[in-house]
Amino acid sequence: MKAIVPGSFDPVTTGHIDIIERAAKVFDEVIVAVAVNLEKADTFSMEERIEFLRDGCGHLQNVRVDWFNGLLVDYVEKHDARVVIKGLRAISDFEFELQMALMNKRLNEKVETLFMMTSAEHSFLSSSLVKELAAFGAPLKGLVSPLVEQRLIERMKKIKREVAG
Ligand code: PNS
Repeated sequence: MKAIVPGSFDPVTTGHIDIIERAAKVFDEVIVAVAVNLEKADTFSMEERIEFLRDGCGHLQNVRVDWFNGLLVDYVEKHDARVVIKGLRAISDFEFELQMALMNKRLNEKVETLFMMTSAEHSFLSSSLVKELAAFGAPLKGLVSPLVEQRLIERMKKIKREVAG
């Protein structure tokens, strides 16, 4: 069976990779689908986010990385899948994830959202927190891949230069 792991992945963290690795053990085929985000101001371009994910998922034979623009349920249907996998960190994730899962069910009742609990060591991790750490020069080892770490440092330097004028 095929599963879709959707997200913004701006950028991908070791917490995301953990969920993708575990999904790849349960499902025959996993598509990691990067969403074109209408609301959030992205730090990294779609090309960069895909590059980071391909780098982080290179060791997983049954995982491929793709992107989509539009409704997740339409993407799932187009790819002949039925299952969406989401990672759940703490109680704080639950409300919004429940809202999205119910809305997706209303949009297409064939699509099932399955939740995977984040491993304890990643339960505090998020892309936004990682970006904040990078902005203040805190160590990122273990939170993101070496490639993402290097590019985050470069990006934050660029942003600081732009702000300083
Ligand atoms: O990593 P994120 O930001 O929590 O991922 C959220 C994402 C991309 C899965 C969600 O925003 C999404 O599915 N966007 C696609 C547009 C869509 O289908 N919106 C209706 C969701 S109920």
